[in-house]
Amino acid sequence: VKKIAVFTSGGDAPGMNAALRAVVRTASFYNIECYGIREGYNGMINNDFIKMGARSVKNIITEGGTILKSARSLEFKTKEGRQKAYDNLVARGIDALVCIGGDGTFTGAKVFSEEFGIRVIGVPGTIDNDIFGTDNTIGYDTALNTAMDAIDKIRDTATSHNRVFFVEVMGRDAGFIALNSGLATGALDILIPERKDSIEELFETFEKAEKAGKSSSIVVVAEGEKLGSIYDIAKATKNGFPDYDIRVVVLGHIQRGGSPSCADRVLASRLGYGAVIGLMNGQNQVMAGMQSNRLVYTPIEEAIKKHNEIDQDLLKISEILAI
Ligand code: F6P
Repeated sequence: VKKIAVFTSGGDAPGMNAALRAVVRTASFYNIECYGIREGYNGMINNDFIKMGARSVKNIITEGGTILKSARSLEFKTKEGRQKAYDNLVARGIDALVCIGGDGTFTGAKVFSEEFGIRVIGVPGTIDNDIFGTDNTIGYDTALNTAMDAIDKIRDTATSHNRVFFVEVMGRDAGFIALNSGLATGALDILIPERKDSIEELFETFEKAEKAGKSSSIVVVAEGEKLGSIYDIAKATKNGFPDYDIRVVVLGHIQRGGSPSCADRVLASRLGYGAVIGLMNGQNQVMAGMQSNRLVYTPIEEAIKKHNEIDQDLLKISEILAI
């Protein structure tokens, strides 16, 4: 491989910059020319490329967001859009792509590679942790800590006012952020899409909490929870327990920002490095991931289609510890 291009796409995640830095510097170390593409697939279509060298990524390991910017491209979903993107890559002599993002990014990369024969390798960057083939995705640990800090603060005021708080965290269809931030903050209950929750069970939990003498509580709700929206769940609870003073907090995009945690910086550095090494070793249509502290390459198809299972032990532990 002689010339590569790297881009960030989909929802941004803390640590994307650290991954970019690792890609650019590893390429530079092995004398591979490297371009950055701005705004994901849109930049590929609109010819928005920048030549990158070791110094273009100075000091970005600490920064949240992505200096290349990110987008969810509608045009890339069309054959014409992908043709334009391919023509721009050919004009520059680029022979492989490093794609930093989540499942939408990888789906696009797979289609593109199959259609035009361009080599691609994925680096999992999303706060949702919903990618198969890696124990953690880049950004997940930071988002988890952000959620934990916010819920800790909510607990202070919940306790002072004897209130019940429902706190919604991100994760799209996955409950990883909810489960782990809920366990880490001692939530009374955690509602996640991977488990079939019911209002009756939630009510039982509240009744038990009352009997145990609890005067305030926090319920963490994954945004993908199937029982209903957090507002519906809060309303149903108010109907069931009219005396409860209930508040709803949606943490939202603060979970996507901030300086990456140490774990995310290390993960991003290893995976960015691993992506370039993978390309040098002839890998194609795979994703670099870390499993049990080892660098592994998983076919992109599997990374998108399969799912990491929720750890049932964590659910059980959180229930036992919330008595
Ligand atoms: O995939 C990351 C994520 O933050 C999800 O947790 C969330 O569902 C979604 O992106 C929000 O997307 P947007 O930034 O487009 O509102």
